[in-house]
Amino acid sequence: MTVIAKSGWVMAARTGRAALAAVIGHPVAHSLSPAIHEYWLQERGIDGAYIPLAVAGDDFTKAVSFLMRAGFRGCNVTIPHKETAFRLCDVPDEAAQRAGAVNTLWFEAGRVHGANTDGYGFIRNLSGSGFDPAGKKIIVLGAGGAARAIVMTLGDAKAGAIVIVNRTGEKAAALVDACCRYGVPCQASGQGMLARELDDCHLLINTTPCGMADREAFELDLSPMPDGAAVCDIVYTPLMTPLLREAKGRGLTVIDGLGMLLHQAAPGFARWFGVMPEVTPGLRNHVVALLPS
Ligand code: ATR
Repeated sequence: MTVIAKSGWVMAARTGRAALAAVIGHPVAHSLSPAIHEYWLQERGIDGAYIPLAVAGDDFTKAVSFLMRAGFRGCNVTIPHKETAFRLCDVPDEAAQRAGAVNTLWFEAGRVHGANTDGYGFIRNLSGSGFDPAGKKIIVLGAGGAARAIVMTLGDAKAGAIVIVNRTGEKAAALVDACCRYGVPCQASGQGMLARELDDCHLLINTTPCGMADREAFELDLSPMPDGAAVCDIVYTPLMTPLLREAKGRGLTVIDGLGMLLHQAAPGFARWFGVMPEVTPGLRNHVVALLPS
């Protein structure tokens, strides 16, 4: 049986055998993950469903336990539960251990497995944009959870030198310590040194919320960056942030944040629904149409 949803989507009615997954967060209504996974389920004709669950605070652990007992295959985890999810994992993957945070859970034989796919999503998006970080000097703005996952993965991709610049110097120093313990070549630099650091920088990455709609943006002069350099923003609302607009005006390669979001979703889908999905222009257009204008 099929149902035509108001949006014009053809929805398959779920059978009792549907493979089930969810995203748990608080808030969760803004999450684009249900749209991404439903797109792939439809594209592949899979009897499955992906459900957003708004769960706050201490209820998170109970919710995960309930999902496992209810036969769900697993779930995504978003703000504010990524660190709690890591702590409750029986089997965290290496990226999760390095990040101390988990965004993807799956259940196997009564055990909770966890992965952090943010770094994977970032690198896949970067390589899809034609940028190879090997041997390159890279500046990362911000020192939060997203920066940590990204810097660790840039280390795996053999980045030449990574410079972390953050509003709060202590947090940048702590991130450098954590990454150096994993052999990632990185150092912290003060905001005042940014102009000088940019002149031999091949890739600048914004991992802070600056530039999001209704938030202040960085006012950065990108003119010192060499020709052929790239600028990447993990913010995707708006798609073209003020930083990316500045980069485009300067003739630099521009990499927006939506690709990372789409790619980080793929490993979870493969775990729960048994097929590795593709990030296609069709998926991207579908999600772009849902972004706030
Ligand atoms: P996430 O874990 O999602 O990456 P986070 O831990 O809140 O998010 O980290 C956000 C990063 O953006 C932090 O490094 C933060 O800087 P501080 O360490 O000084 O807090 C940075 N950030 C947030 N708002 C900022 C702003 N207005 N200007 C500059 N940096 C900002």
